[in-house]
Amino acid sequence: MKNILITILTMTLLTNTTKAQNGDYRFMIEQAILAPSGHNTQPWLFEIQPDGIAIHPNYSKRLPVVDADNRELFISLGCATENLCQAATSRGYQPEVSISPDSVVQIKLTPNRDAKAGPLLPFVALRQTNRGVYKHRMIPHDTIALLKKVESNPGVNVYFFENGTNLFDTLLTHVVKGNNIQMNDPAFINELKGWMRLNKRQTEASNDGLSYATFGAPNLPAFVAKPIISGFLKAKKQNEGDLKKGESSSHFMLITTNQNTLQEWIGAGQTLQRLLLESTRLRLAHAYMNQPCEVASLAENLKQQLPIEGQHPTLLLRLGYGDKKPYSKRKSVDEVMIK
Ligand SMILES: Cc1cc2nc3c(=O)[nH]c(=O)nc-3n(C[C@H](O)[C@H](O)[C@H](O)COP(=O)(O)O)c2cc1C
Repeated sequence: MKNILITILTMTLLTNTTKAQNGDYRFMIEQAILAPSGHNTQPWLFEIQPDGIAIHPNYSKRLPVVDADNRELFISLGCATENLCQAATSRGYQPEVSISPDSVVQIKLTPNRDAKAGPLLPFVALRQTNRGVYKHRMIPHDTIALLKKVESNPGVNVYFFENGTNLFDTLLTHVVKGNNIQMNDPAFINELKGWMRLNKRQTEASNDGLSYATFGAPNLPAFVAKPIISGFLKAKKQNEGDLKKGESSSHFMLITTNQNTLQEWIGAGQTLQRLLLESTRLRLAHAYMNQPCEVASLAENLKQQLPIEGQHPTLLLRLGYGDKKPYSKRKSVDEVMIK
């Protein structure tokens, strides 16, 4: 009788622990999927394992034209990894990240009473890419100093270039050159259009992609929106907009890697996400101007022209102050789980 009671007690305890753990793991995945991803493809699949969570690359979401080597895909996985780690410590788990030989991010989660809540967790849901024209207000040096304190992963480096300097202009000129190449490439335009969600109906049907609302466009029937969008996807139009947006920004932030390896791409994503969460905490707006990193010949030029010691330009963003924009959508946790 005593043995049966002990067995029942142990079973109940174990079931409750698993239930609590499942709740915690689900919360961590909910936070992870709020990460940014190229074209909002959300190229991740999560697997709950006995001692942690694995994030698998979902190659069906890859962008073969703009991201032929999957670099941005793995950066996006790195961003999701960082969110998950921030959430893990807040639930009393110590996360330990490793990458398996088949490029899966393994996050081992060890219960640890001393694990401290990630200070950046409250900003996971508040972060957003802000593609608007900013307020022409410079970020104070002590605020940039706080961003410079954000920890970088091994092989990842972060540089800031202030508006009004020659190097800022060099970067903006390369954005224009990038538009001239990408916007005249029919394959690039086709891929981009495939991920554009032209109105509320399309956005809510997929819960992914680039929503009209995040570009400040009105909710119009697709047959009306399509020709308008096509008119915007021209080098001249993009350059007019990007010059205005660049000039209204305070700084460029460039992330480089030493060796351009998959490990470093994931590390660049983790570093990027920490920087974006810290920027959000500091009430800064950010948006990507990644063209010069995506076009290999321009990245090579930047290597020569910037004081970055031959490192690989990997991500280029602008920072400044801007009004909040509508948030982009996400697929549900259940849609990105490996059962
Ligand atoms: C690796 C990477 C590259 C990106 N490149 C661009 C880009 O070139 N242009 C752009 O407007 N947004 C870019 N984005 C931002 C995504 O489009 C954005 O994260 C996505 O639409 C989700 O929106 P959110 O960041 O507001 O959550 C990039 C994001 C990541 C992670």
